[in-house]
Amino acid sequence: MDVRDRSFRTGEWRTIIDRAETGEIDEPIVNVDREDRREFDAIFVGGGAGGRFGSAYLRARGGRQLTIDRWPFLGGSCPHQACVPHHLFSESARELDLARSLSGRLWFGEFDEKRASMLAVIELFRSERNRAHAFMNWQSKEQLGMEYILNAPATVRDEHTVEVAGQRFHARNLVLGTGARTEVPEVPGVDLPGVFDFASLVEELDYEPNRCVIIGGSKVAVEYGSFFQAAGCPTTIVSRSPLMRTASLHHVDEDMRQFVVSGMRSRGMTILEGAEPVEITGNGRATGVVVRTAGGALHTFPADFVFLGTGERACSQPFVDTLGVEVDGRASIVVNPRMQTSVPGVYAIGDLIGPPMEMFKARKCGMAAARNIMGEPYEFDFSEYPDFLHSTYEVTWVGLTEAEARERYERVIVIQMPPPGMGLDETPLPCAEGSMLTAFTNPAASGFQKCVIDAVSRRVVGAHHVGFGAKTAFQYLDHLIHRPGGLTIDQMAEMNELFLNSEHFVQLCRLRAGQLDLTDL
Ligand SMILES: Cc1cc2nc3c(=O)[nH]c(=O)nc-3n(C[C@H](O)[C@H](O)[C@H](O)COP(=O)(O)OP(=O)(O)OC[C@H]3O[C@@H](n4cnc5c(N)ncnc54)[C@H](O)[C@@H]3O)c2cc1C
Ligand SMILES: NC(=O)c1ccc[n+]([C@@H]2O[C@H](COP(=O)([O-])OP(=O)(O)OC[C@H]3O[C@@H](n4cnc5c(N)ncnc54)[C@H](OP(=O)(O)O)[C@@H]3O)[C@@H](O)[C@H]2O)c1
Repeated sequence: MDVRDRSFRTGEWRTIIDRAETGEIDEPIVNVDREDRREFDAIFVGGGAGGRFGSAYLRARGGRQLTIDRWPFLGGSCPHQACVPHHLFSESARELDLARSLSGRLWFGEFDEKRASMLAVIELFRSERNRAHAFMNWQSKEQLGMEYILNAPATVRDEHTVEVAGQRFHARNLVLGTGARTEVPEVPGVDLPGVFDFASLVEELDYEPNRCVIIGGSKVAVEYGSFFQAAGCPTTIVSRSPLMRTASLHHVDEDMRQFVVSGMRSRGMTILEGAEPVEITGNGRATGVVVRTAGGALHTFPADFVFLGTGERACSQPFVDTLGVEVDGRASIVVNPRMQTSVPGVYAIGDLIGPPMEMFKARKCGMAAARNIMGEPYEFDFSEYPDFLHSTYEVTWVGLTEAEARERYERVIVIQMPPPGMGLDETPLPCAEGSMLTAFTNPAASGFQKCVIDAVSRRVVGAHHVGFGAKTAFQYLDHLIHRPGGLTIDQMAEMNELFLNSEHFVQLCRLRAGQLDLTDL
């Protein structure tokens, strides 16, 4: 299907994508300028977060790219199976949590458990997700001037050649960005119907689960588990490490973690730490999970729905086989800070190069590859970054934990809400944007925040937040605290807060900044 000379509106793109997904359109969707005889500067294999942003950047720099994706849209797994459904589910979890906790009060009706349906939310996502895909096809073509071939898998032939739909394309460079997929644990029964991961959940779930067991203890486990529980499906999490203490998450403050985990437990979730799955039982369908608990005993937890939050592994094998690119022990392609692989002219980006598997990293990897291809030496260091996850709350953090700061600096103070030592139910603090109704009705659940400061240099070295709406502020805090010179409590005190805000760091810092010798608040 040649779309080069067509200018579709997003509604028309949506129809094309729908038809391609049902197989009604089974040919490639081709948007390649046949008049343009210039050599391609790069072929992007995979048009997900990394591939699309890298392509747009390279194009904007005056280069010529070709982006190929097996799906009939650009944007990749984030809008199709990963981040976007996760955000819809987490927002649903938050709404359900509020409606349940305020059941029968104010304008809230009596909470009707029968209407809390995870299947309904998943079906809503499934029916509407192509809107975002349609926009990305439209924007990439009409506004960003990208050339692409969709709805057809690419096969790399050599470091300059890619084959798609029977045709070979050549480029000066290749940028590999085919992402990652769930690392399926070697647990007997893991192939049974009734066992899902984030992708099969949105593609295949067709019943309302009644009881869930999740394997894993990191972001996916916390986020999806909180949604399942809030949607009325009692959920047990089986985590080897303490929840949120897996090696893939760094800088998780212990007080913040405790607030999150105890909040999940108080909402009825069962959380087993130091526990391992032994077997998924079933007779044609999953019926439960046998778990070795921290004490070594075996327990069977009944479930009609088992969910894997066991992390992801890079889809690198085809490139190892064809190009011989170097990979590490977890199959992630090894790159230098310019995104160059061990094979000259071949770059790799995003989830394909391993953790952190986050959007900012995938997109900036794409940009870094594009800049280098266009002749600008550019390095991307993603060793430090702001991070977040959802429970029924939004949990956000950046910089050092209190414990890490105390190891690194001689004298550390914290500015914290609720203040250290104050019981959670003593006072509704933080009483903050996004949690006002909670603060006035269930103070102990209103949230948690902590700012960590090196008392000698007066620099903010970490910030940790559980509540709602602070994520945007953390993007800027990350930039400010990591720039040379950092950000001091005195500079925070000079900022103009938009009161009443989600995190009270500016005004709290102002209350303390007058002290020449800083103490906790
Ligand atoms: C459940 C979940 C929730 C998440 N939520 C968040 C979040 O809230 N925030 C955040 O920052 N990150 C989140 N992430 C991580 C984020 O989704 C990824 O880091 C990001 O999508 C990676 O982008 P990518 O370009 O590397 O890969 P992808 O976006 O996966 O793109 C890979 C592309 O390659 C294509 N492809 C594969 N093989 C071929 C082939 N042979 N030929 C052509 N095309 C091919 C695929 O179709 C796909 O479009 C989440 C991840 C998961 C699993
Ligand atoms: N920004 C966001 O909000 C967001 C949301 C979701 C996902 N993501 C990204 O998506 C990726 C996947 O997330 P994730 O939470 O699935 O993965 P993850 O952070 O890699 O964590 C994997 C979890 O699974 C456990 N695990 C792995 N193998 C296991 C096994 N065989 N048996 C039992 N437990 C096992 C690990 O336990 P151990 O600690 O004991 O090894 C860990 O708790 C991550 O890179 C994440 O950053 C981002």
